[in-house]
Amino acid sequence: MNDRLFIFDTTLRDGEQSPGASMTREEKLRIARQLEKLGVDVIEAGFAAASPGDADAIRAIAEAIQDSTVCSLARANERDIHAAGGAIKPARSGRIHTFIATSPIHMEKKLRMQPDQVVEAAVKAVRLAREYTDDVEFSAEDAVRSDMDFLVRIFTEVIKAGATTINVPDTVGYSIPALWGERMKQLIERVPGSDKVIWSTHCHNDLGMAVANSLAAVMNGARQVECTINGLGERAGNASLEEIVMAVRTRRDVFNCDTRIDATQIVPASKLVSTITGYPVQPNKAIVGANAFAHESGIHQDGVLKHRETYEIMRAEDVGWHANRLTLGKLSGRNAFKTKLSELGIVLDSEEALNAAFARFKDLADKKREIFDEDLQALVSDEGYAAGQERYKLVSMKVCSETGEVPHAQLVFTDDGAEKEATGDGSGPVDATFRALESVVNSGADLLLYSVNNITSGTDAQGEVTVRLAQDGRVVNGQGADTDIVVASAKAYLHALNKLHSKRERAHPQV
Ligand code: KIV
Ligand code: ZN
Repeated sequence: MNDRLFIFDTTLRDGEQSPGASMTREEKLRIARQLEKLGVDVIEAGFAAASPGDADAIRAIAEAIQDSTVCSLARANERDIHAAGGAIKPARSGRIHTFIATSPIHMEKKLRMQPDQVVEAAVKAVRLAREYTDDVEFSAEDAVRSDMDFLVRIFTEVIKAGATTINVPDTVGYSIPALWGERMKQLIERVPGSDKVIWSTHCHNDLGMAVANSLAAVMNGARQVECTINGLGERAGNASLEEIVMAVRTRRDVFNCDTRIDATQIVPASKLVSTITGYPVQPNKAIVGANAFAHESGIHQDGVLKHRETYEIMRAEDVGWHANRLTLGKLSGRNAFKTKLSELGIVLDSEEALNAAFARFKDLADKKREIFDEDLQALVSDEGYAAGQERYKLVSMKVCSETGEVPHAQLVFTDDGAEKEATGDGSGPVDATFRALESVVNSGADLLLYSVNNITSGTDAQGEVTVRLAQDGRVVNGQGADTDIVVASAKAYLHALNKLHSKRERAHPQV
């Protein structure tokens, strides 16, 4: 002990590639601030060349973050590297992460490039990236299906060109731990100059082995793990940060390395990412699931009461459970509210936005006796800080639901400032609400998912609703929170419609 294991968080880039998880600049900033608090070493803030909005969000994060390195992804071409270099420029510590596919199937079918051309592009990209920063990471996309000799060749060349971190991704989640560990070991042994770089791993979870594969790589010399909060990411997701960090910490006897993560910030980070992206955390998810520390059987409960370590290998409070601190109440003033928001990393960009948020807080405090951190996060996520920039906004609603009667909803909402009325019937109050809204908006979007979660405990808690809509191949998640879950549902539906409306064209890095 004690080798340092670097944590590279890609929630804001690979995580954002989950269907519907795209985030606004402000939402990304909030998550970035929480990641900094958590102590991640590198925040992959986005893919600058994807769109001007993505580049702007990376720049804003680079300006705001002091204690973590801020990184942009870039394909191995000049345009992407210039975009990434420009976006990370304000960072106190900035990294460019450039990548190119190295497997025969990707080179031939996707890139339509010969292996020599791929090596040449990689070397050129790394050299150009070094003109912007000394901290350059190179990834061989689909390394899992790449030829070992070719990987050795390309890694040797990019190290000579100035790469300082070499990332070995299992892009398609195909590996198994023993093979992945062996691959890492062989690469470190065979690549000349391997001792001068940090070896990294980036695993997807298609076969449910992303964390196991990442840990196998760590046992074989990797000293950076790329991961995301709650395991968010393309398809089945990436390796989950909380599982990696706690596995290494709980089994120090096996790993002989540790991170600088402040584990008490894990649960707040998980809740924030879930609230912002609309991806709920399954109750039995390790570390951050609601049941992760709940003992149901009598034998277990008895054991834990007698001696907690009989059944607990970690302490809930060590990963940030029960940090559910009472934050504010009905009598809290505007200043206390503002201070609390800034402690949570929430910066409202105008007095108007602060006043609007404070009014919503007072409203909530009237309905709910105790307001927790999570309530405030939901409150600002609910309408977005950019309230006013949204096309649709709920004004009021009334829903009648009675045994033996057809539920009926009546809503008033604004469409670009103009008030509209909507009415509709449905099989339940939520169905009636959505039908009423659709009868006026006519988006024709398909409802892919509807879910409700409680933000804190108790029947007076706010319900947080996620609505996933698809329209013309675009998928968006809308969220809404309220102590009345039908109102939360209406807000979530309108939020999703707003996202569909604000068409953001962006390139996908891997397509
Ligand atoms: O999965 C992958 O290969 C990636 C690379 C860009 C690192 O996300
Ligand atoms: Zn990935």
